[in-house]
Amino acid sequence: MMILVTGGAGYIGSHTCVELLNAGHEIVVLDNFSNSHPEALRRVSEITGKQFTIYHADLLNKEKLNEVFAKNKFDAVIHLAGLKAVGESVTVPLRYYENNITGTIYLVAMMKKYQVRRLVFSSSATVYGMTNKMPITEDTPLSAVNPYGRTKQMIETLLHDVYQADKTWNIALLRYFNPVGAHESGLIGENPNGIPNNLMPYISQVAIGKLKKLTVFGNDYPTKDGTGLRDYLHVVDLAKGHVKALEKDENGIDAYNLGTGTGYSVLEMIAAFEKASGQNIPFTVSNRRAGDAAVCYANPVKAGIVLGWQASRGIVEMCEDTWRWQRNNPSGYEEAAKNRDGTP
Ligand code: WQD
Repeated sequence: MMILVTGGAGYIGSHTCVELLNAGHEIVVLDNFSNSHPEALRRVSEITGKQFTIYHADLLNKEKLNEVFAKNKFDAVIHLAGLKAVGESVTVPLRYYENNITGTIYLVAMMKKYQVRRLVFSSSATVYGMTNKMPITEDTPLSAVNPYGRTKQMIETLLHDVYQADKTWNIALLRYFNPVGAHESGLIGENPNGIPNNLMPYISQVAIGKLKKLTVFGNDYPTKDGTGLRDYLHVVDLAKGHVKALEKDENGIDAYNLGTGTGYSVLEMIAAFEKASGQNIPFTVSNRRAGDAAVCYANPVKAGIVLGWQASRGIVEMCEDTWRWQRNNPSGYEEAAKNRDGTP
């Protein structure tokens, strides 16, 4: 199939492009590079040996979006483009609503105009809010507690209404738990701008010496060692989940948890990364981070039954692959691109 991948240069996007190409699909990437780098797409071609069209464009630019659809006959869209920092969404909510929701409205309207009705949408476990019913199943009531999560929840609602109005749509809502890791080549991986908000990239930057020490946000949670417990999912498993969702043929709309069903605490992640990297990860313990849940992990059974998908990579691979990416790219894509041809 010919697939439009929005946000294809991002962390999830670049890994998803690799799996789509490896599965024999053709892709076109649209990305505004606000939180990603063209170097990632060059490396997607290096990994797969395949070339593809790239549009440096923003979903809010209707004219450009129309041109992309007019020039390409898409069979489906995988929609990953979006702002995704929980903390930032609290400080600039309107930016998140405009970018994530309005951008999606323009995209879906363009899909309708060009008769493209197969969509895989990048949602998030954050739509479940602070539920304490574990493991989380897809029928858990949605109760996002921050603007970022609310944009994902509202987009899911919007897509349900689009389907109710036209039952020829085929829509998959993928609720990611905690994506971590990197492609085994060490060529693509998580490349956060500035200080990482998330645990794994922060740990790996401590391991490489870019950051001095990790702050553990609270050790008084009701968990085995008092630190927060999450369902970490290897990004390659996550990417393969997009291919499975894309290839599901029936019309309809449904949500799927993409997680492993296993939770690890912060201290367990630190120990696993120290073992995988051979580096010491110094840390101090602070108060809890506002908005953090104690425990969050998936019941991934539905994705297994309906999509034929389940995660296969464990915590060792997650840490080893992250470390290989970090070691090979201590300053991320920007530095590598500059060193390679002298241009940013
Ligand atoms: C994991 C654990 C922290 C950093 C977020 C978003 C979610 C999704 C994935 C987009 C928690 C602890 C973290 C640090 C720490 N993103 N931690 N020190 O918060 O579960 O999920 O990313 O869809 O929407 O909310 O991930 O990696 O930030 O935190 O102790 O420096 O690590 O308290 O227990 P989170 P995280």
